[in-house]
Amino acid sequence: MSNLEAAQKQYDEYKKMGLALSMQRGQPSDADFDLSNPMLTIVNEDTLVTPSGIAIRNYPGGVAGLPEARELFATVLDVRPEEMVVGNNSSLLLMSNIFMWAMMRGLKHSDGPWVGQKPKMIVTVPGYDRHFRLLDTLGFEMLPVQMTPDGPDMDAVEALAASDPSVKGLTFVPTYSNPTGDTLSEAAAQRLASMPTAVPDFTIFADDAYRVHHLTGKPAQPPNLLRACAAAGNPDRVIIFGSTSKMTFAGAGIGFFASSVDNIAYITGLMGAQFIGPNKIEQYRHVRFLQTYPGGIPGLMRAHANNLRPKFEAVYEVLTRELGETDLARWTKPEGGYFISLDTKYPVADRVVTLAKEAGVGLTPAGATYPFGQDPHNSNIRLSPSRPPVEEVAQAMEVVAACIKLASVEHEIF
Ligand SMILES: Cc1ncc(COP(=O)(O)O)c(C=O)c1O
Repeated sequence: MSNLEAAQKQYDEYKKMGLALSMQRGQPSDADFDLSNPMLTIVNEDTLVTPSGIAIRNYPGGVAGLPEARELFATVLDVRPEEMVVGNNSSLLLMSNIFMWAMMRGLKHSDGPWVGQKPKMIVTVPGYDRHFRLLDTLGFEMLPVQMTPDGPDMDAVEALAASDPSVKGLTFVPTYSNPTGDTLSEAAAQRLASMPTAVPDFTIFADDAYRVHHLTGKPAQPPNLLRACAAAGNPDRVIIFGSTSKMTFAGAGIGFFASSVDNIAYITGLMGAQFIGPNKIEQYRHVRFLQTYPGGIPGLMRAHANNLRPKFEAVYEVLTRELGETDLARWTKPEGGYFISLDTKYPVADRVVTLAKEAGVGLTPAGATYPFGQDPHNSNIRLSPSRPPVEEVAQAMEVVAACIKLASVEHEIF
Protein backbone atom coordinates (compact mmCIF):
# COMPACT_ATOMS: atom_id res chain seq x y z
CA MET A 1 0.00 0.00 0.00
CA SER A 2 1.38 3.45 -0.89
CA ASN A 3 1.81 6.15 1.74
CA LEU A 4 -1.14 7.98 0.23
CA GLU A 5 -3.37 4.92 0.31
CA ALA A 6 -2.39 4.18 3.94
CA ALA A 7 -3.05 7.77 5.05
CA GLN A 8 -6.35 7.86 3.15
CA LYS A 9 -7.46 4.56 4.67
CA GLN A 10 -6.73 5.70 8.21
CA TYR A 11 -8.56 8.97 7.59
CA ASP A 12 -11.57 7.21 6.03
CA GLU A 13 -11.86 4.96 9.05
CA TYR A 14 -12.19 7.99 11.32
CA LYS A 15 -14.61 9.63 8.91
CA LYS A 16 -16.89 6.60 9.02
CA MET A 17 -17.22 6.97 12.80
CA GLY A 18 -19.53 9.99 12.39
CA LEU A 19 -17.79 11.99 15.12
CA ALA A 20 -18.99 15.39 16.35
CA LEU A 21 -16.09 16.91 18.32
CA SER A 22 -14.77 20.44 18.69
CA MET A 23 -11.38 21.84 19.61
CA GLN A 24 -12.30 25.18 18.17
CA ARG A 25 -12.64 27.85 20.81
CA GLY A 26 -10.88 28.36 24.10
CA GLN A 27 -13.81 27.86 26.40
CA PRO A 28 -13.72 26.44 29.92
CA SER A 29 -15.41 23.08 30.55
CA ASP A 30 -18.50 22.57 32.68
CA ALA A 31 -16.23 21.03 35.33
CA ASP A 32 -14.30 24.31 35.36
CA PHE A 33 -17.51 26.29 35.75
CA ASP A 34 -18.68 24.00 38.54
CA LEU A 35 -15.73 25.15 40.66
CA SER A 36 -17.31 28.61 40.81
CA ASN A 37 -20.94 27.60 41.37
CA PRO A 38 -20.91 28.80 45.02
CA MET A 39 -20.48 32.29 43.58
CA LEU A 40 -24.07 32.16 42.30
CA THR A 41 -25.52 32.53 45.80
CA ILE A 42 -22.70 34.17 47.74
CA VAL A 43 -24.32 37.61 47.59
CA ASN A 44 -27.76 37.91 49.13
CA GLU A 45 -29.97 40.12 51.31
CA ASP A 46 -27.39 39.97 54.08
CA THR A 47 -24.49 41.27 51.98
CA LEU A 48 -25.84 44.46 50.47
CA VAL A 49 -23.10 46.76 51.77
CA THR A 50 -19.40 46.05 51.27
CA PRO A 51 -16.82 46.35 54.08
CA SER A 52 -15.76 49.72 52.63
CA GLY A 53 -19.34 50.90 53.08
CA ILE A 54 -20.55 50.85 49.48
CA ALA A 55 -24.18 49.88 48.84
CA ILE A 56 -24.01 47.48 45.92
CA ARG A 57 -27.61 48.05 44.77
CA ASN A 58 -27.19 51.77 44.19
CA TYR A 59 -25.15 54.03 41.87
CA PRO A 60 -22.45 55.51 44.12
CA GLY A 61 -19.04 53.84 44.06
CA GLY A 62 -17.21 55.31 41.09
CA VAL A 63 -16.17 54.28 37.61
CA ALA A 64 -12.98 52.48 38.71
CA GLY A 65 -14.88 49.77 40.55
CA LEU A 66 -15.36 48.57 44.13
CA PRO A 67 -12.32 49.24 46.34
CA GLU A 68 -12.45 45.57 47.45
CA ALA A 69 -12.37 44.42 43.81
CA ARG A 70 -9.51 46.77 42.91
CA GLU A 71 -7.57 45.42 45.86
CA LEU A 72 -8.23 41.78 44.98
CA PHE A 73 -7.51 41.97 41.24
CA ALA A 74 -4.41 44.11 41.87
CA THR A 75 -2.92 40.89 43.25
CA VAL A 76 -3.50 39.17 39.89
CA LEU A 77 -1.60 41.81 37.90
CA ASP A 78 0.91 42.50 40.68
CA VAL A 79 0.12 46.22 40.94
CA ARG A 80 -1.32 48.57 43.55
CA PRO A 81 -5.11 48.95 43.96
CA GLU A 82 -4.96 52.60 42.89
CA GLU A 83 -3.41 51.42 39.60
CA MET A 84 -6.47 49.24 38.86
CA VAL A 85 -9.79 49.76 37.13
CA VAL A 86 -12.29 46.94 37.57
CA GLY A 87 -15.13 46.89 35.07
CA ASN A 88 -17.86 44.63 33.82
CA ASN A 89 -17.79 41.25 32.15
CA SER A 90 -15.09 41.56 29.47
CA SER A 91 -11.47 42.66 29.24
CA LEU A 92 -11.81 42.80 25.46
CA LEU A 93 -14.55 45.39 25.88
CA LEU A 94 -12.30 47.48 28.16
CA MET A 95 -9.52 47.26 25.60
CA SER A 96 -11.82 48.27 22.77
CA ASN A 97 -13.18 51.11 24.86
CA ILE A 98 -9.67 52.48 25.37
CA PHE A 99 -8.83 52.04 21.67
CA MET A 100 -11.99 53.99 20.85
CA TRP A 101 -11.13 56.79 23.24
CA ALA A 102 -7.65 56.88 21.74
CA MET A 103 -9.21 57.19 18.31
CA MET A 104 -11.70 59.88 19.38
CA ARG A 105 -9.65 61.86 21.88
CA GLY A 106 -6.12 60.47 22.03
CA LEU A 107 -4.40 59.09 25.12
CA LYS A 108 -2.70 61.08 27.86
CA HIS A 109 0.38 62.08 25.85
CA SER A 110 -1.34 62.45 22.47
CA ASP A 111 -1.48 65.69 20.56
CA GLY A 112 -4.92 64.79 19.22
CA PRO A 113 -7.26 61.96 18.27
CA TRP A 114 -5.57 58.99 16.64
CA VAL A 115 -8.33 58.61 14.08
CA GLY A 116 -6.94 61.31 11.81
CA GLN A 117 -3.36 60.04 12.07
CA LYS A 118 -3.72 56.77 10.11
CA PRO A 119 -2.72 54.84 13.25
CA LYS A 120 -0.73 51.63 13.04
CA MET A 121 -0.54 48.92 15.70
CA ILE A 122 2.19 46.34 16.08
CA VAL A 123 0.70 42.89 16.72
CA THR A 124 2.37 39.56 17.43
CA VAL A 125 1.84 36.52 15.20
CA PRO A 126 0.66 33.91 15.65
CA GLY A 127 -1.79 35.82 17.81
CA TYR A 128 -5.34 36.25 19.04
CA ASP A 129 -7.93 36.57 16.27
CA ARG A 130 -10.14 38.94 18.22
CA HIS A 131 -7.33 41.48 18.60
CA PHE A 132 -6.94 41.47 14.82
CA ARG A 133 -10.65 41.79 14.22
CA LEU A 134 -11.00 44.62 16.72
CA LEU A 135 -8.03 46.59 15.41
CA ASP A 136 -9.12 46.15 11.80
CA THR A 137 -12.72 47.10 12.59
CA LEU A 138 -11.52 50.29 14.29
CA GLY A 139 -9.34 51.24 11.32
CA PHE A 140 -5.85 50.41 12.61
CA GLU A 141 -3.27 49.19 10.15
CA MET A 142 -1.65 46.10 11.69
CA LEU A 143 2.09 45.48 11.62
CA PRO A 144 2.74 41.81 12.43
CA VAL A 145 5.92 40.80 14.28
CA GLN A 146 6.84 37.27 15.27
CA MET A 147 6.00 36.03 18.77
CA THR A 148 9.10 34.27 20.13
CA PRO A 149 9.66 32.21 23.29
CA ASP A 150 10.81 35.49 24.93
CA GLY A 151 7.89 37.61 23.75
CA PRO A 152 7.55 39.85 20.68
CA ASP A 153 10.54 39.90 18.30
CA MET A 154 12.11 42.92 19.97
CA ASP A 155 14.43 43.91 17.11
CA ALA A 156 11.39 44.26 14.87
CA VAL A 157 9.33 46.08 17.54
CA GLU A 158 12.13 48.57 18.30
CA ALA A 159 12.67 49.30 14.62
CA LEU A 160 8.97 49.93 13.95
CA ALA A 161 8.34 51.93 17.13
CA ALA A 162 11.32 54.23 16.61
CA SER A 163 10.91 54.97 12.93
CA ASP A 164 7.28 55.74 12.21
CA PRO A 165 5.18 58.37 14.03
CA SER A 166 1.98 56.63 12.98
CA VAL A 167 2.97 53.51 14.95
CA LYS A 168 0.90 54.08 18.07
CA GLY A 169 1.47 50.91 19.99
CA LEU A 170 1.86 47.20 20.45
CA THR A 171 -0.92 44.75 21.29
CA PHE A 172 0.08 41.31 22.53
CA VAL A 173 -0.43 38.64 25.19
CA PRO A 174 2.51 38.70 27.64
CA THR A 175 1.87 35.53 29.65
CA TYR A 176 1.16 32.08 28.16
CA SER A 177 0.35 33.82 24.90
CA ASN A 178 -2.65 32.89 22.79
CA PRO A 179 -1.88 30.62 20.95
CA THR A 180 1.84 29.84 21.47
CA GLY A 181 1.96 29.77 25.27
CA ASP A 182 5.09 31.95 25.28
CA THR A 183 5.78 34.31 28.18
CA LEU A 184 7.56 37.68 28.00
CA SER A 185 11.12 37.52 29.34
CA GLU A 186 12.59 40.04 31.76
CA ALA A 187 15.04 41.23 29.09
CA ALA A 188 12.26 41.79 26.52
CA ALA A 189 10.22 43.65 29.15
CA GLN A 190 13.16 45.97 29.83
CA ARG A 191 13.50 46.66 26.11
CA LEU A 192 9.77 47.37 25.74
CA ALA A 193 9.89 49.71 28.71
CA SER A 194 12.93 51.69 27.63
CA MET A 195 12.93 51.61 23.80
CA PRO A 196 12.85 54.96 22.02
CA THR A 197 9.55 55.59 20.25
CA ALA A 198 8.79 58.05 17.46
CA VAL A 199 5.77 59.38 19.37
CA PRO A 200 5.22 60.12 23.09
CA ASP A 201 1.85 58.36 23.13
CA PHE A 202 3.17 54.96 21.99
CA THR A 203 1.26 52.54 24.22
CA ILE A 204 1.74 48.86 25.03
CA PHE A 205 -1.62 47.08 25.29
CA ALA A 206 -0.64 43.97 27.22
CA ASP A 207 -3.56 41.53 27.25
CA ASP A 208 -2.63 39.46 30.29
CA ALA A 209 -5.65 37.16 29.98
CA TYR A 210 -3.68 34.11 31.21
CA ARG A 211 -1.56 35.74 33.90
CA VAL A 212 -2.43 33.24 36.65
CA HIS A 213 -3.40 30.30 34.42
CA HIS A 214 -0.48 28.02 35.23
CA LEU A 215 -0.57 24.39 34.18
CA THR A 216 2.50 23.14 35.96
CA GLY A 217 3.91 23.32 39.46
CA LYS A 218 6.49 25.85 38.30
CA PRO A 219 4.51 28.95 37.40
CA ALA A 220 5.92 31.54 35.01
CA GLN A 221 7.22 34.62 36.78
CA PRO A 222 6.20 37.24 34.24
CA PRO A 223 8.04 40.54 34.49
CA ASN A 224 6.17 43.51 35.92
CA LEU A 225 5.72 45.73 32.85
CA LEU A 226 4.18 48.58 34.80
CA ARG A 227 7.16 48.80 37.15
CA ALA A 228 9.63 48.33 34.28
CA CYS A 229 8.07 51.23 32.35
CA ALA A 230 8.11 53.47 35.44
CA ALA A 231 11.74 52.60 36.15
CA ALA A 232 12.66 53.41 32.54
CA GLY A 233 11.07 56.86 32.82
CA ASN A 234 8.01 55.92 30.73
CA PRO A 235 5.41 55.40 33.47
CA ASP A 236 2.39 55.87 31.20
CA ARG A 237 3.55 53.53 28.43
CA VAL A 238 1.65 50.39 29.33
CA ILE A 239 -1.94 49.30 29.98
CA ILE A 240 -2.35 45.72 31.22
CA PHE A 241 -5.66 43.88 30.85
CA GLY A 242 -7.06 40.81 32.54
CA SER A 243 -10.32 39.13 33.44
CA THR A 244 -11.90 36.26 35.30
CA SER A 245 -13.39 34.77 32.12
CA LYS A 246 -11.16 31.70 32.53
CA MET A 247 -11.28 31.76 36.34
CA THR A 248 -14.98 31.91 37.16
CA PHE A 249 -17.54 32.18 34.35
CA ALA A 250 -16.68 32.99 30.73
CA GLY A 251 -18.51 36.08 29.62
CA ALA A 252 -20.08 36.38 33.07
CA GLY A 253 -16.95 37.32 34.97
CA ILE A 254 -15.09 40.55 35.66
CA GLY A 255 -12.72 42.43 33.34
CA PHE A 256 -10.05 44.80 34.66
CA PHE A 257 -6.98 46.79 33.65
CA ALA A 258 -3.95 48.32 35.31
CA SER A 259 -1.87 51.34 34.40
CA SER A 260 -0.13 54.32 36.01
CA VAL A 261 -2.20 56.40 38.42
CA ASP A 262 -2.06 59.28 35.90
CA ASN A 263 -3.34 57.07 33.08
CA ILE A 264 -6.07 55.72 35.34
CA ALA A 265 -7.16 59.28 36.11
CA TYR A 266 -7.17 60.21 32.42
CA ILE A 267 -9.05 57.09 31.27
CA THR A 268 -11.61 57.03 34.09
CA GLY A 269 -12.24 60.71 33.35
CA LEU A 270 -13.35 59.67 29.87
CA MET A 271 -15.18 56.55 31.02
CA GLY A 272 -17.08 58.66 33.54
CA ALA A 273 -18.83 60.29 30.61
CA GLN A 274 -20.04 56.88 29.46
CA PHE A 275 -21.55 55.32 32.58
CA ILE A 276 -22.00 55.92 36.29
CA GLY A 277 -20.23 52.80 37.43
CA PRO A 278 -19.79 49.08 36.79
CA ASN A 279 -22.00 46.30 38.12
CA LYS A 280 -20.98 46.25 41.78
CA ILE A 281 -23.16 43.26 42.63
CA GLU A 282 -21.14 41.12 40.22
CA GLN A 283 -17.88 42.56 41.50
CA TYR A 284 -18.79 41.89 45.12
CA ARG A 285 -19.86 38.37 44.25
CA HIS A 286 -16.40 37.75 42.80
CA VAL A 287 -14.67 39.34 45.76
CA ARG A 288 -16.55 37.25 48.30
CA PHE A 289 -16.09 34.03 46.35
CA LEU A 290 -12.43 34.44 45.42
CA GLN A 291 -11.47 35.64 48.91
CA THR A 292 -13.06 32.64 50.56
CA TYR A 293 -12.07 29.94 48.07
CA PRO A 294 -9.47 27.66 49.76
CA GLY A 295 -6.10 29.13 48.78
CA GLY A 296 -7.76 32.17 47.19
CA ILE A 297 -7.24 32.85 43.47
CA PRO A 298 -4.08 30.67 43.32
CA GLY A 299 -6.04 27.83 44.93
CA LEU A 300 -8.82 28.13 42.35
CA MET A 301 -6.30 28.24 39.52
CA ARG A 302 -4.67 25.05 40.84
CA ALA A 303 -8.07 23.36 40.70
CA HIS A 304 -8.44 24.54 37.09
CA ALA A 305 -4.97 23.24 36.27
CA ASN A 306 -5.96 19.82 37.61
CA ASN A 307 -8.87 19.79 35.14
CA LEU A 308 -6.83 21.14 32.22
CA ARG A 309 -3.49 19.36 32.54
CA PRO A 310 -4.73 15.89 31.50
CA LYS A 311 -6.25 17.43 28.36
CA PHE A 312 -2.98 19.07 27.35
CA GLU A 313 -1.18 15.82 28.09
CA ALA A 314 -3.67 13.91 25.92
CA VAL A 315 -2.81 16.24 23.01
CA TYR A 316 0.95 15.70 23.49
CA GLU A 317 0.52 11.94 23.88
CA VAL A 318 -1.37 11.54 20.59
CA LEU A 319 0.80 13.97 18.63
CA THR A 320 4.01 12.37 19.89
CA ARG A 321 2.76 8.85 19.22
CA GLU A 322 1.37 9.62 15.75
CA LEU A 323 3.75 12.29 14.49
CA GLY A 324 6.75 12.25 16.83
CA GLU A 325 8.83 10.12 14.51
CA THR A 326 7.98 12.28 11.50
CA ASP A 327 8.82 15.91 10.83
CA LEU A 328 5.32 16.69 9.56
CA ALA A 329 4.42 19.01 12.45
CA ARG A 330 5.80 20.69 15.52
CA TRP A 331 3.81 21.98 18.46
CA THR A 332 4.25 24.05 21.59
CA LYS A 333 4.12 22.60 25.11
CA PRO A 334 2.95 25.60 27.11
CA GLU A 335 3.29 25.76 30.88
CA GLY A 336 0.04 27.67 31.15
CA GLY A 337 -2.81 29.30 29.31
CA TYR A 338 -5.41 27.68 27.11
CA PHE A 339 -3.81 26.80 23.79
CA ILE A 340 -1.31 24.71 21.90
CA SER A 341 0.09 26.13 18.68
CA LEU A 342 0.84 23.59 15.96
CA ASP A 343 2.77 24.24 12.77
CA THR A 344 2.63 21.85 9.84
CA LYS A 345 5.80 21.27 7.84
CA TYR A 346 4.03 21.92 4.55
CA PRO A 347 1.57 24.74 3.71
CA VAL A 348 -1.43 22.53 4.44
CA ALA A 349 -3.11 24.05 7.53
CA ASP A 350 -6.28 24.89 5.59
CA ARG A 351 -6.44 21.37 4.14
CA VAL A 352 -5.99 19.84 7.61
CA VAL A 353 -8.81 21.97 9.03
CA THR A 354 -11.11 21.05 6.11
CA LEU A 355 -10.31 17.33 6.38
CA ALA A 356 -10.88 17.45 10.15
CA LYS A 357 -14.22 19.20 9.67
CA GLU A 358 -15.34 16.58 7.14
CA ALA A 359 -14.44 13.91 9.70
CA GLY A 360 -16.48 15.66 12.40
CA VAL A 361 -13.73 17.53 14.29
CA GLY A 362 -14.05 21.32 14.48
CA LEU A 363 -10.76 23.21 14.62
CA THR A 364 -10.04 26.95 14.78
CA PRO A 365 -10.08 28.11 11.13
CA ALA A 366 -6.66 28.03 9.47
CA GLY A 367 -5.24 31.53 9.31
CA ALA A 368 -7.18 32.74 12.37
CA THR A 369 -3.94 33.41 14.22
CA TYR A 370 -2.89 36.02 11.62
CA PRO A 371 -4.39 39.40 10.67
CA PHE A 372 -7.18 39.08 8.09
CA GLY A 373 -7.11 35.30 8.58
CA GLN A 374 -4.11 35.06 6.27
CA ASP A 375 -1.25 32.91 7.46
CA PRO A 376 1.56 33.55 4.96
CA HIS A 377 2.88 30.01 5.50
CA ASN A 378 -0.54 28.32 5.73
CA SER A 379 0.91 26.21 8.52
CA ASN A 380 -0.38 27.39 11.90
CA ILE A 381 -3.27 25.66 13.70
CA ARG A 382 -4.49 26.66 17.15
CA LEU A 383 -5.56 23.73 19.30
CA SER A 384 -7.95 24.42 22.16
CA PRO A 385 -8.29 21.39 24.42
CA SER A 386 -10.00 23.10 27.37
CA ARG A 387 -13.68 22.49 26.73
CA PRO A 388 -14.16 18.82 25.70
CA PRO A 389 -13.71 15.95 28.15
CA VAL A 390 -10.27 14.34 28.03
CA GLU A 391 -11.45 11.26 26.06
CA GLU A 392 -12.86 13.54 23.37
CA VAL A 393 -9.65 15.56 23.24
CA ALA A 394 -7.69 12.36 22.64
CA GLN A 395 -10.15 11.15 20.00
CA ALA A 396 -10.15 14.53 18.24
CA MET A 397 -6.35 14.56 18.20
CA GLU A 398 -6.20 11.08 16.63
CA VAL A 399 -8.28 12.52 13.80
CA VAL A 400 -6.14 15.68 13.57
CA ALA A 401 -2.97 13.58 13.37
CA ALA A 402 -4.52 11.47 10.58
CA CYS A 403 -5.51 14.66 8.74
CA ILE A 404 -1.97 16.04 9.03
CA LYS A 405 -0.55 12.81 7.62
CA LEU A 406 -3.02 12.74 4.73
CA ALA A 407 -2.65 16.44 3.87
CA SER A 408 1.15 16.14 4.02
CA VAL A 409 1.33 13.09 1.79
CA GLU A 410 -1.08 14.73 -0.67
CA HIS A 411 1.21 17.78 -0.71
CA GLU A 412 4.29 15.64 -1.31
CA ILE A 413 2.64 13.83 -4.20
CA PHE A 414 0.56 16.46 -6.00
C1 LIG B 1 -5.80 36.71 24.86
C2 LIG B 1 -7.25 36.85 25.20
N1 LIG B 1 -7.73 38.05 25.57
C3 LIG B 1 -9.02 38.23 25.88
C4 LIG B 1 -9.91 37.18 25.81
C5 LIG B 1 -11.34 37.44 26.13
O1 LIG B 1 -11.43 37.92 27.43
P1 LIG B 1 -12.75 38.54 28.02
O2 LIG B 1 -13.76 37.47 28.14
O3 LIG B 1 -12.33 39.09 29.34
O4 LIG B 1 -13.21 39.64 27.10
C6 LIG B 1 -9.47 35.92 25.43
C7 LIG B 1 -10.41 34.79 25.31
O5 LIG B 1 -10.12 33.75 24.74
C8 LIG B 1 -8.09 35.75 25.11
O6 LIG B 1 -7.60 34.56 24.72
